[in-house]
Amino acid sequence: MIHILGIESSCDETAASIVAEDGTIASSVIFSQIAQHQEFGGVVPEIAARAHLEKVEYVIKTALSDAKMTLNDIDGIAVTAGPGLIGGVIVGLTTAKTMALALNKPFIAINHLEGHALTPRLCHKTPFPYLLLLASGGHTQILLAKDIGDYEIIGTTIDDAAGEAFDKVAKMLGLGYPGGPILEKMATTGDASRFKLPTPLKGKPGCDFSFSGLKTAVRILIEKQQTLTEQDKADICASFQNAVISVIEDRLKNAIKMYKERFPQGNNLVVAGGVAANQAIATALTNIASKNKLIFSAPPMNLCTDNAAMIAWAGVERFKKGQRDSFDIAPRSRWPLAETKFE
Ligand code: KG4
Ligand code: ZN
Repeated sequence: MIHILGIESSCDETAASIVAEDGTIASSVIFSQIAQHQEFGGVVPEIAARAHLEKVEYVIKTALSDAKMTLNDIDGIAVTAGPGLIGGVIVGLTTAKTMALALNKPFIAINHLEGHALTPRLCHKTPFPYLLLLASGGHTQILLAKDIGDYEIIGTTIDDAAGEAFDKVAKMLGLGYPGGPILEKMATTGDASRFKLPTPLKGKPGCDFSFSGLKTAVRILIEKQQTLTEQDKADICASFQNAVISVIEDRLKNAIKMYKERFPQGNNLVVAGGVAANQAIATALTNIASKNKLIFSAPPMNLCTDNAAMIAWAGVERFKKGQRDSFDIAPRSRWPLAETKFE
């Protein structure tokens, strides 16, 4: 059985994981840098890069010991080569290349977004072609996932990513970082009907997203309030989350129509990326799927947000297709999914 070691360091999580060919996660170690970035209210790239350098060896060693394996048991090393904060990507990529060279093992460069995009196959063996909503801190896209490396983007955000909007609204309300999970928790005690917020692009043709107008509307709303009670904050959170859900539902309606036209045999809607950890969004997606007779799946919470199991799994999928990368692959801060075509 093939085992791939995956390494992830593109944002604020240093992670290593060993995943087997059959999807068994032998180990998954995540060292979160949240505490180091918290006082700045967001990820500080230089701090992130240094923290990755400090922890990368630790997470790899722990992944091996948790899996009760040695480096000899590993068949290949997969690593995030982008997109992401370049200092962090360099740390992981250089580590992986050095290990692969020293151990004479295959080296596979992975696009972080493809890690998210293939997670449904790791968790639920979802067959291609599936309709994918990829919503993270840096990206919000709707894709037709047709095969490994074959992703057609049918919708994307024209400004902020969904996760970014959660983070920014949480910051405006002084809820702290990272905002998504805190905002979701606040929203559970709020009245979503109290504030009427805009739902950008809702009702328009196509599958694109826009969140900056919504974010601005929340800022204006906050500025208008003299003082903000905890209940006011909760109501704003609930109203904001509701607006996001309403936009996602509307955009997906168009996307599902397109998916069904293009792939009459396709019947899978999946969500991936950090925002997929949001239970209210997952519930809305479950309802949309059942209305449209699609099977819906969302990865478990710990595989929605950044992790190395998804990188190891993308490595497994690519390894099996024969991909072996050379050491001259460069780290990339930008790397669209459409540029991951399998060669
Ligand atoms: O995929 P991810 O871990 O990192 C990126 O590749 O961006 O996504 C992180 C993003 C953050 O913006 C975070 O606020 C958001 O996912 N997020 C959430 C929730 N948990 C994480 N957004 C809404 N609700 C959540 N429960
Ligand atoms: Zn991510």
